[in-house]
Amino acid sequence: EKGMYPHFMLKEMDEQPGVIRKILQAYENEQGELAMDENIVNAFNEADRLYIIAAGTSYHAGLIGKHYFEKIAGIPVEVHISSEFGYNMPLLSEKPLFLFITQSGETADSRQVLVKIKALGYPSITLTNATGSTLSREADHTLLLYAGPEIAVASTKAYTAQVAVLAIAAYVVAKKRGKTVEIDLKKELAITANAIQTLVDSKEEMEQIAHEFLAVSRNAFFIGRNLDYYVSLEGALKVKEISYIQAEGFAGGELKHGTIALIEEGTPVFAIVTQQAVSLNTRGNVKEVVARGANPCILSMEGLEEENDRFVLPKVHALLTPLVAVIPLQLISYYAALHRGCDVDKPRNLAKSVTVE
Ligand code: F6R
Repeated sequence: EKGMYPHFMLKEMDEQPGVIRKILQAYENEQGELAMDENIVNAFNEADRLYIIAAGTSYHAGLIGKHYFEKIAGIPVEVHISSEFGYNMPLLSEKPLFLFITQSGETADSRQVLVKIKALGYPSITLTNATGSTLSREADHTLLLYAGPEIAVASTKAYTAQVAVLAIAAYVVAKKRGKTVEIDLKKELAITANAIQTLVDSKEEMEQIAHEFLAVSRNAFFIGRNLDYYVSLEGALKVKEISYIQAEGFAGGELKHGTIALIEEGTPVFAIVTQQAVSLNTRGNVKEVVARGANPCILSMEGLEEENDRFVLPKVHALLTPLVAVIPLQLISYYAALHRGCDVDKPRNLAKSVTVE
């Protein structure tokens, strides 16, 4: 039920701090440490390479999952779009493990991959919001999101839940492998939940930004580097699917290799700046588009902000910035769609679960 909310999407965005807290409880052992099913930990631990298979928003979460498993747990990862993987399988490692990320657990594109890799005898895990869903039943193991039902077609809380559970999985596997883990993930996720709360409470500011940048524009760009690039992809998808504005997420440095030709007077460019190592590079890319007339909207993390940034994100651990950077983009998409009179919860041409290939 929507209750007092005009749209499920708004309700589901608001639920995100609670979802992170729920996940922290669900993945805790009796000693209060982050933990998960020992069989699943062993499956990750035994793999020489993780293959993440997903579509759409879940694919975007998978890109962040790759960062976590490689940086925290030291396991090489490939992330693949499910509709491509099944029909053009890459050379596989000797001991692959397949991780299917699917909110609904019903996506046909992802299922066809599961059927194929099972026939080859490879182990599989499904990360899903839906117990008893097809991909949950058919994979060897299931990891749950605990996000509660997501009704709006545009995925919001499932994405943040996916990112949080991927971080926890990478962390637990790293501990199992005896790796030195720098981050106190439990503490940092709790801080992140509070930061998300601050952001969902900044709706007026986000509505203002949507109005200022997306009220009449035909197109928009989202740029960032490293983790910020992955969030840019997700921000652009949100804008496209509910407001029908042509939006592209781009790696900051890649624009100048062709796409910058699309920048005109007033083109909105949202830039995400949360990663210190590349913040100046991204700012350099903003200068390049501004020189061609773009209207920049810089969202930077506290500690990295500069004078003309449009919004400063509350500070969280560098690995967890996608969980906060995505929130303004979700809200901006929502308000852009509202202003343009679009059906926010049921955008045209889309279905909540895509059960055809
Ligand atoms: C976008 C969106 C879709 C889904 C995609 C995969 O907001 O919801 O891109 O992420 O169709 O769906 P699942 O995760 O159910 O496999």
